[in-house]
Amino acid sequence: PSYTELYRPQYHFTPPKNWMNDPNGLLYYKGIYHLFYQYNPGGTTWGAMSWGHATSRDLTHWEQQPIALLARGYPNNITEMFFSGSAVADVDNTSGFGHSGTTPLVAMYTSYYPYAQTMPSGKTVQANQQAQSVAYSLDDGMTWTTYDTANPVILNPPTPYSDQFLDFRDPNIFWHKPTKKWIAVLSLAKLQKLLVYTSKDLKNWTFASEFGPVNAAGGVWECPNLFPMSVDGDNDNVKWVLMIGLNPGGPPGTIGSGSQYVVGSFDGTTFTADADSLFSGTTPPPSDSIVFADFDGTGNFADLGWIPTGDLIDQSPVNGTLSGQNPVTGYLGNRLVNTFLNGDATIGTLTSKSFTISKRYINFLIGGGHDFNNTAMHLKVDGQIVRTATGTNSEGLSWVSWDVGSLLNQTAVFQIVDTAAGGWGHINVDEISFSDSMARSQVANWVDWGPDFYAAQIYNGLVPDERIAIAWMNNWQYAGLIPTSPWRSAMSIPREFSLKTIDGKATLVQAPKEKWDSIVRRKGLDKSWSSLDQGTKSLGSVGKALRIELSFSDREPAATGASQFGIIVRATSDLKQQTRIGYDFATKELFVDRSQSGDVSFDGTFPATYYAPLASNAKGQINLLIYVDWSSVEVFGGEGETTMTAQIFPSDSATYAQIFSTGGNTQNVRVGINEISSA
Ligand code: FRU
Repeated sequence: PSYTELYRPQYHFTPPKNWMNDPNGLLYYKGIYHLFYQYNPGGTTWGAMSWGHATSRDLTHWEQQPIALLARGYPNNITEMFFSGSAVADVDNTSGFGHSGTTPLVAMYTSYYPYAQTMPSGKTVQANQQAQSVAYSLDDGMTWTTYDTANPVILNPPTPYSDQFLDFRDPNIFWHKPTKKWIAVLSLAKLQKLLVYTSKDLKNWTFASEFGPVNAAGGVWECPNLFPMSVDGDNDNVKWVLMIGLNPGGPPGTIGSGSQYVVGSFDGTTFTADADSLFSGTTPPPSDSIVFADFDGTGNFADLGWIPTGDLIDQSPVNGTLSGQNPVTGYLGNRLVNTFLNGDATIGTLTSKSFTISKRYINFLIGGGHDFNNTAMHLKVDGQIVRTATGTNSEGLSWVSWDVGSLLNQTAVFQIVDTAAGGWGHINVDEISFSDSMARSQVANWVDWGPDFYAAQIYNGLVPDERIAIAWMNNWQYAGLIPTSPWRSAMSIPREFSLKTIDGKATLVQAPKEKWDSIVRRKGLDKSWSSLDQGTKSLGSVGKALRIELSFSDREPAATGASQFGIIVRATSDLKQQTRIGYDFATKELFVDRSQSGDVSFDGTFPATYYAPLASNAKGQINLLIYVDWSSVEVFGGEGETTMTAQIFPSDSATYAQIFSTGGNTQNVRVGINEISSA
């Protein structure tokens, strides 16, 4: 490929062709950054999972390498796929895989077996089982041998979880110096639990402890990562960070997958979360909301801890009118809206009285069950469908906010209606509220607040305290539908992680990590205004791959009346396509609006605006560092304590940029834009 196709990222890693998902086996060894990744050698959708491989000396320029682990039996008779995992350099040859002084590199991954079979090791696996296996390389990572005499080295989950063998995956392995042991952290995906195993030789593993669920616990938990980092660079104050992928159940306001982290301690056996890194199992409602439904059902997520308030509470039981078989009873007052539906059904009216819409958003959590992808949620006003949300294809829970601004001050009867198109599906509705802003209360420490940052993994093999992470820059909600060809999916920019104390709490901060001086063009645009008038200011045609530094004051808006400030990128000259990146002074939130970013047609949830909390610095300035590529934007807010990653698919002619200041002047503005060359 030429790497000049429409939407082809110029400095984000992509495979030349075919499907890619999670980064795997990130290992720095002998001056080389290895990037393995979930790869389908046979097409642009998920399947035939193998480990693709690329290498780099600078995290910027990548060289494609031969496939490291090719699905066994590919292409016609696949008996084993290689799911996600990690890799280490076994420098003391604890595994004995090395000989004549060679350091073996050892990868541990999840074997997925489409069929029941007895392995060469004599172990019998069941159809669709996931188990943990190892492979080693004696040529510095270029070719790999699976350890067939013993694989899978962890066959089944431990009791009492042995029934979870279909959802047991994604080993994260690392050396724990104090106990002189290898650690593997594994996910019991459906239970939202992580298991810690220890080993002396990377071959024999002992179950040591479990963790979870905590904080955001929607959907499945996948791709755990556990690593130590000093706080504020103080080597005497080291904390452990546990990073967890959730699908679905990403950051509020997004639909689909996302990544959270928990800060705590790890003693070689057990991870213990810091109290201030845990939320008490509940989503506090937005402060301006009138809560009038609560959930007390059987969902596999944490129950609520707050009592609904507001004058709209209707305590009478609601009997849904069902055309399906299962009658539903719920109280749309302060308890239980939990339904189990088969076929089309109305799960209830929110209030038996008619009701005047006085807030702009109606928010709720929807949680799925089986066949959730067959179900849709509708908002009906006086019997007419006015809004629809679709579920995602797995069990889970996600926030939906419906903008009902166009219905403000109308009086009507509300209904939330679930339609299940064939098969059976069930849906849980939870925490219904009305508010002036979208429901996006923080129930977790989000690694990234955008929709496209998943399955993040950090590099093994770096110097202590150097933590570099790469994530899959996509989302299971629409990953198989994004309009790219002949490849599908990119990796995020590698990011340097650190922990900083912010508001008294150890907080993850992130910085983009590439050899920027090799690709960022020196000459660029640099403008500043002590006061920028209300309205827009064209910056002209600035390009498609950009580094943008944007800073402005958060202090004066109260006086000037400014409500939002930001930059429009990847716009066509008529502005019909545009991606807005900005800041809302009233809510103190960073936002990325990709609702008109180009091709948004392939998935109903794709055109949307995403929000994240971001405070100004001590000088009252907001600093944004924005990386734009041919099909993405990644925003680093403040010192990197808030990041937001979103894919966009604008047309080739979308090269224009504008600054906007809405509602009033914005002070102390500076914008710097430099083009980024192809890596
Ligand atoms: C996460 C994931 C992993 C699994 C891999 C399969 O994106 O579902 O849990 O190992 O993808 O490709």
